[in-house]
Amino acid sequence: MDSTLAPKPTINVAAICGSTRKASFHHGLIRAAIELATQAIDGMSIVNVDISLLPMLNTDLEVDDKFPPEVEAFRQKILQSECFLFASPEYNYTVTAPLKNAIDWASRPPNVFADKAAAIVSAGGGFGGGLAQYSLRQNGVFLDLHFINKPEFFLKAFEGPPKFDDEGNLIDTVAKESLKSVLLALKAFTLRLRAK
Ligand SMILES: Cc1cc2nc3c(=O)[nH]c(=O)nc-3n(C[C@H](O)[C@H](O)[C@H](O)COP(=O)(O)O)c2cc1C
Repeated sequence: MDSTLAPKPTINVAAICGSTRKASFHHGLIRAAIELATQAIDGMSIVNVDISLLPMLNTDLEVDDKFPPEVEAFRQKILQSECFLFASPEYNYTVTAPLKNAIDWASRPPNVFADKAAAIVSAGGGFGGGLAQYSLRQNGVFLDLHFINKPEFFLKAFEGPPKFDDEGNLIDTVAKESLKSVLLALKAFTLRLRAK
């Protein structure tokens, strides 16, 4: 068969949530993204990677060039993913402590994020969590993560009509369409990196 006609392998996306809250809006965004990838996007599989049980970064925990088991398992999941979907609240104009902690563990040599594509979405106050996104993009420079630039996704979670239900499920149809556009852009950019 002509190799250009062969089906492309599925893009494995690791979704990483900055919130550990049960009814988190950001977990809701990830659930919606998983549903969209399953039902409306060919060739993309999104798996949530839990960061809530990682120990706080302390390089003393690295013994004989080994990471603690939870950290090693997390790093392996990152290593095995082709690209990333971050969904993080903005806390005091930056990302949350759990997300920064996970990023720092992933960055320990060898940096397991290196040279991969990523997208970020958020929901929050007036700027929809935008400052957390730009803070994460700054981290991405050092990590050599390649964030898609457009489309951007900032959801004003506290302005009517309601964007989430009581369990944190995304119920806003316009936001779902925007989220799908982000996923399609991430897919296209990941395929470009794959072809390099
Ligand atoms: C410690 C703390 C700091 C926050 N700082 C900001 C902020 O700087 N900007 C903002 O838009 N919202 C801020 N918020 C509101 C969160 O963005 C909001 O609670 C969001 O729903 C949290 O995401 P989650 O639902 O996924 O847990 C803050 C909330 C907390 C608890």
